[in-house]
Amino acid sequence: MPVIAEIADLKRLYRNRVPRMFYDYCESGSWTEQTFRDNSDDFDLIRLRQRVAVDMEDRSTRTTMVGQDVAMPVALAPVGMTGMQHADGEILAARAAERFGVPYTLSTMSICSIEDVAAATDRPFWFQLYVMRDQAFLEAIVERARAAGCSALVLTLDLQILGQRHRDLKNGLSAPPKLSPATVADLSWRWRWGLGMLRTRRRGFGNIVGHAKGVGDASSLLAWTAEQFDPRLDWEKVRQIKEMWGGTLILKGILDAEDARRAADLGCDAIVVSNHGGRQLDGALSSIRVLPEIVAAVGDRVEIHVDGGIRSGQDVLKAVAMGAKGTYIGRAYIYGLGAMGEAGVTRALEIVHRELDITMALCGRRRIEDLGPEILLVGPEFGRYRPYA
Ligand code: GLV
Repeated sequence: MPVIAEIADLKRLYRNRVPRMFYDYCESGSWTEQTFRDNSDDFDLIRLRQRVAVDMEDRSTRTTMVGQDVAMPVALAPVGMTGMQHADGEILAARAAERFGVPYTLSTMSICSIEDVAAATDRPFWFQLYVMRDQAFLEAIVERARAAGCSALVLTLDLQILGQRHRDLKNGLSAPPKLSPATVADLSWRWRWGLGMLRTRRRGFGNIVGHAKGVGDASSLLAWTAEQFDPRLDWEKVRQIKEMWGGTLILKGILDAEDARRAADLGCDAIVVSNHGGRQLDGALSSIRVLPEIVAAVGDRVEIHVDGGIRSGQDVLKAVAMGAKGTYIGRAYIYGLGAMGEAGVTRALEIVHRELDITMALCGRRRIEDLGPEILLVGPEFGRYRPYA
């Protein structure tokens, strides 16, 4: 077994073990993938201020996200089709998160259902909601999340329609995969993955199949979103869902200060500054570039979280120092899951934690609350984009 020192090591293993269709689903953005690349590249433009001769005993990365204790300011992001990256993937990721002490967010478009994950875990997880046209289904799924004891609802606002995902189109992405000569050839040497899939009964969209009526092709994320997601989602609908849920509400997909103000006015508990991992509007700014503007606009009124491009504990530190109360990793833990199942997710969390802890110490800080913008250094290339007109 090769030494796994950083997230990139997990990614190499992941690439070999998971069918190409699902690797591509994870490791891609929409259209030209500009925003997908910017999300990570822009973190690299930020440098750190080294401080020395500061007592580093008793450091801690513990903090809270929406009032809940977390071992570090990192949650596992909702990722569609996680159970296609590894058999029972959502259950394994949720267990790893629970043991590590960070929140797990289950996607509406998961393979394991809300009930499956609840049965396999002891502590509450978060549920990410996509708004469907079918009001009865929407009310039922919110109710299912409540019955499962989910401690936060993460409502995604940036996916009424799916971005242009060329690789998924070309691969004919589906869960389970449809068998064509190309997929059979690809699957034939991913034997570990195949064995796992043979052993589980969870191979379709667990929250949907058997729950939603009038579904055309429920195996296709592309067909499903086009058919079922509600394109009329607006702030009034968000308000109604807030009322329907009644608990902790996190609004995900905010990338504009105006929208951040609307979200704060609504009285949500947190917003996630996000461009959906570069999977929706290609050409949108990276999350880390937008974060300072959103912090300035609403940081005193609502908790701010961020996702997109976070592949290390250093990235977490940079986001937190800029004013984020929490961050989310998506791909970074999916690499671990595809590579090594639950142990791989744990490994990804350990790596991010160690990097965060060491970087924090070398910046002369002992607590997450002590991280502020004064430890960050940026050059002119991190300048602000301004409106054209
Ligand atoms: C969401 O489910 C996505 O594929 O980005």
